[in-house]
Amino acid sequence: MSTNESVFAEDEPWPELKLPELLSSDTLRALHANIESDWDFMRRSACQTAAGRALWKQVVHDPLAELFAGETFLKTIYEKIKKDRLNNAREISGVILAVRTLWFDSKIEAALSSSDGGGAQVVLLGAGMDARSHRLSCLKESSVFEVDFPEVLHAKATILEAAANSSDEHHHPIVTAKSLTRVAADLTEDDWLGKLQTSGFEPNKSTVWILEGILYYLSHSDAMKVLKIIAEKCNLTKTVLLADFMNKQATTLSSSTFHFYCDWPDELLPSLGFADVKLSQIGDPDAHFGLLQDPLNLFNKLRNLPRTIQTHPDDGTPCGRLYLLQASGSPNQTSS
Ligand SMILES: C[S@@+](CC[C@H](N)C(=O)[O-])C[C@H]1O[C@@H](n2cnc3c(N)ncnc32)[C@H](O)[C@@H]1O
Repeated sequence: MSTNESVFAEDEPWPELKLPELLSSDTLRALHANIESDWDFMRRSACQTAAGRALWKQVVHDPLAELFAGETFLKTIYEKIKKDRLNNAREISGVILAVRTLWFDSKIEAALSSSDGGGAQVVLLGAGMDARSHRLSCLKESSVFEVDFPEVLHAKATILEAAANSSDEHHHPIVTAKSLTRVAADLTEDDWLGKLQTSGFEPNKSTVWILEGILYYLSHSDAMKVLKIIAEKCNLTKTVLLADFMNKQATTLSSSTFHFYCDWPDELLPSLGFADVKLSQIGDPDAHFGLLQDPLNLFNKLRNLPRTIQTHPDDGTPCGRLYLLQASGSPNQTSS
């Protein structure tokens, strides 16, 4: 097959980027202008991630993502994808995000449909512009808690309100979760768990914790504190952790942005008390979704190299990896 990924068929014309009218409303224009001028990189990453999901709509159904992303991020990522396609790139921009999104979706669904998972609470740490509470029907029995900085959650609520009040049916937000609670908190402060509990989180109730695109923005000590707090919950109740980890080489791509890394999260999590730890890499059978067919693309090449290897034997570039981890624990279970 061609070097291009299968969802971008070469014989199809590349569609123009069509922006939803709602993005040109006064409210959303002003809000996104404010995000661009006032937010730091970490907060803006919420919108950037949403843009990636919006532009991978062939595989990720997230109609709200383009509203959350805003015009600038959509245009930037659109141009990158277009260039990759024209160059027949082996990896199209954003494929890693599409795979990551689909991996988390599938693991959340599996956790909630397991015999003891139905009705579990779901907590998203660093929820950003995640729209799962509006797009996953498997959350219908779950109370969902979204934790992020106050300004991120406030912007999100403003966008949802604008969408709800518009005549644009395609973007009407409908909550598919049993309930949705936004918890404004800073994960580097000691009070985030208290704030979560004050908002209705029940420590003794089965919980699925979602840490998607968040750990590497934290310092080593803050990330470890967050992981330990979640691990302690395994002594109280059935606990599932879904998280992505960068290895050290991945954080060197931008050492001012990324901090926490772990080369062996499949050893770290059992040491904290989790059992049933499973590590996947982008391109593995459960982290593939038909998007990484080419055996010579970067992700497949990485998977074929031992994880101890730090630089590519071909060109000496860093072997940056994104690990996808699922782990669980319960009072009756011992860590492996
Ligand atoms: C890359 S985005 C990922 C958002 C979302 N999980 C997703 O996958 O779409 C990272 C998010 O983490 C949030 N974040 C980073 N550091 C945080 C902290 N100390 N406390 C709360 N949220 C934080 C940012 O505001 C941003 O929304």
